[in-house]
Amino acid sequence: MRSIKIQKICCIGAGYVGGPTMSVIADKCPDLEVRVVDINKERIDAWNDSDLNNLPIFEPGLDRIISRTRGRNLFFSTEMEKSISDADMIFISVNTPTKTKGLGAGQASDLSWVEASARQVAKYAKGHTIVIEKSTLPVRTAQAIKEILKTTNRENQKNEIAKTFSVLSNPEFLAEGTAINDLEKPDRVLIGGEDSDAVDALVKIYLNWVPGEQIICTNLWSSELSKLAANAFLAQRISSINSISAFCEATGADVQEVAKAIGTDKRIGNQFLSAGPGFGGSCFKKDILNLVYLSGYFGLPEVADYWNQVVVLNTWQQDRIYKIVLEKLFGTVNGKNIAILGFSFKANTNDTRESPAIRISSDLLEEGAILSIYDPKVSFKRIEEDFEKISFNNQGIWKMANSIPEALKNVDAVLILTAWDEFFGLDWNYLASLMRSPAWVFDTRSVVDRKEIENTCINLWKLGEGN
Ligand code: NAD
Ligand code: UGA
Repeated sequence: MRSIKIQKICCIGAGYVGGPTMSVIADKCPDLEVRVVDINKERIDAWNDSDLNNLPIFEPGLDRIISRTRGRNLFFSTEMEKSISDADMIFISVNTPTKTKGLGAGQASDLSWVEASARQVAKYAKGHTIVIEKSTLPVRTAQAIKEILKTTNRENQKNEIAKTFSVLSNPEFLAEGTAINDLEKPDRVLIGGEDSDAVDALVKIYLNWVPGEQIICTNLWSSELSKLAANAFLAQRISSINSISAFCEATGADVQEVAKAIGTDKRIGNQFLSAGPGFGGSCFKKDILNLVYLSGYFGLPEVADYWNQVVVLNTWQQDRIYKIVLEKLFGTVNGKNIAILGFSFKANTNDTRESPAIRISSDLLEEGAILSIYDPKVSFKRIEEDFEKISFNNQGIWKMANSIPEALKNVDAVLILTAWDEFFGLDWNYLASLMRSPAWVFDTRSVVDRKEIENTCINLWKLGEGN
């Protein structure tokens, strides 16, 4: 076996994965030079902002890592050509959203950004380069990347010294909000590839902080599929518990008690059993839809139907919540003030991609509601863009509030959609005095303890709590 010495790494894509992942690699491997490149100049400028509050993504612990690595061995730039040509190892960590048009629209992944990245690598790389799929990709994408690298390379090779490539798959399992902890103490690192020298070079990087027994090496296709399967299994658990939440409401059972009762069975496990307004985030839905598409492509329609149902139930859960709010408020929210607490898809992130708050809020706006939205980290601009992206017939008005009391002033109802720490243990006696009677609190995240509202005039509806 030939030992490949890695000195310079380049990561294409400075997003929620590329930024934190490369920050941790730079932190754990001070001898490596890590360059993160992106076509989005505004994003790169934000990564380079001297005020760490302006980093483009909020992730607990990220600012501390950036402050000790940036400018030392971690660099953010738009300088694609040099960063690629200097690198021994290149991570492709670009977006892979669901296709919106053409064959497979609505299900298949749009690989335009991955293909563009591979073409850039083929054009600018020098010598031998290890190319790593960090993005989540359909099974067998590595084959396409290999083809692009080979053919584009052939076209460019006339005037240049020979270049060679090894392609590996190294999917990322971090969750937003806990990304730094997930990267520093991963359950496992997964590496798929056929070139054992290249695999070994990547293993050596992770060995700087990950115990060897937690590094799993597989063939390329198992690695690519494992990432899609892991997300599908996680999302399936959420749809399962959400289906039970509706059952609880219909029968008088309590979903918290049911989750505890079933989760203590070690074979089931107690994680990922929190009922809520449905899963959001940029990946669960897109990755399952991709699995659905691939199942159809490979002639497995029953498999496709099985996984598709996880997404169907997720949308149903969001619609169910909006309809309950409507029903409890006497069938109309037209002209009524409603506070939305939490707009991000989960706590501890400013990410709103596929957040249940978008669908539920826009449904309420279609009914003519007046929303005051409070989220500790999500900006007005982000919410405005989210509403602009979806087509809906807005009959209402929305505004941002700067604090919880400001959001709740004169409202008929409060809808809690994200479990931010600051929403727990609120002074509901005081908050009830700001609201209009009969005041409703709709808690989809089990944030409010029934005891906290006992001496107030508030009516509390909790997701998954039957009467
Ligand atoms: P993102 O949209 O936050 O970031 C992607 C970045 O890539 C953008 O800044 C974009 O400008 C840049 N980019 C696109 N094409 C480029 C090109 N040709 N050259 C240079 N830059 C380019 O996406 P993300 O959330 O970081 O996700 C990236 C991938 O990782 C996706 O495949 C996703 O499924 C996967 N993933 C995401 C998460 C997560 O928590 N967000 C976790 C695990 C895996
Ligand atoms: C998820 C996976 O957890 C990561 O392993 C994966 O790397 C990532 O997707 C990805 O590929 O993008 P993320 O979406 O960031 O991470 O966050 P999760 O903690 O998984 O939460 C996803 C959604 O499910 C959130 O809306 C959350 O509120 C919801 N959820 C989660 C529940 O409703 N109940 C739960 O018990 C857990």
